[in-house]
Amino acid sequence: MPRTVVVTGGAAGIGRGAVERFLAAGDRVVALDRDVAALATLPPEVIGIVVDVADRAALAGAAESLTTVDVLVCAAGVQRYGTVVETSEDVYDEVMGVNVGGVFFACRAFVPLIPRGGSVVVVASVQAYAAQKGVAAYSMGKGALLSLVRAMAVDHAADGIRVNAVCPGSVDTPMLRTSAAEFGGGRPTDEVVAEWGRSHPLGRVATPGEVAEVIHFLSSPAAAFVTGADVKVDGGLTAQLAVVL
Ligand SMILES: NC(=O)c1ccc[n+]([C@@H]2O[C@H](COP(=O)([O-])OP(=O)(O)OC[C@H]3O[C@@H](n4cnc5c(N)ncnc54)[C@H](O)[C@@H]3O)[C@@H](O)[C@H]2O)c1
Repeated sequence: MPRTVVVTGGAAGIGRGAVERFLAAGDRVVALDRDVAALATLPPEVIGIVVDVADRAALAGAAESLTTVDVLVCAAGVQRYGTVVETSEDVYDEVMGVNVGGVFFACRAFVPLIPRGGSVVVVASVQAYAAQKGVAAYSMGKGALLSLVRAMAVDHAADGIRVNAVCPGSVDTPMLRTSAAEFGGGRPTDEVVAEWGRSHPLGRVATPGEVAEVIHFLSSPAAAFVTGADVKVDGGLTAQLAVVL
């Protein structure tokens, strides 16, 4: 039986990977994204809705257009850099508004439409566990998502709704390539991405499809006893100590 799946940030990157995975399973997919041009490139069977997840009223409006949502995938997010001292108030507000508020208020809008057996999957990050330098607000926000996932798992267990997170390492998406261009010192982006991949024990970055596969699993009956979990999809990145012997 096809399910109705809502994916925030569904027009590109990991969210798009999720859209394609659920489409392949025969589900009805609704993609919410603020990028109008990118939404227009999705397969025609995807229902695209232009929404900025930082806009609470827009999220509520999108939910009003639907009756039942079996799966909510929260993938919209932005990557911003800076220590706590360097991060401007505007950048802090943007990161919290999109990466944390965008998830909280998407759940607030769509969870009431999720029937028993449905689920929420939140895209957090390995940066919820450990930080690189200069990502104070982003890292804080991803940590907050894991707390939200646990709180929601407890709150909605009695409703038959499971809530889980995936924590990716580096994934080859427009976001990663923008960072590679910014921090690559003028080197070709492919070279920088490959170098970042070598810092993962598996020796490469992930594809969006590999993260989407885990998102799909967590939403499926195969994961019926999994809730409140954060699943690393990081090629072993966080398993490794940076000690050279
Ligand atoms: N790429 C990685 O290496 C990586 C690693 C760990 C976690 N993540 C997380 O995965 C998620 C997706 O990242 P990605 O790499 O696919 O990013 P991306 O920038 O490649 O794609 C993100 C999509 O979300 C949309 N989006 C961004 N802000 C939005 C907003 N306010 N409202 C609606 N749509 C919005 C964008 O338009 C885009 O379509 C993010 O939460 C990110 O933090 C990414």
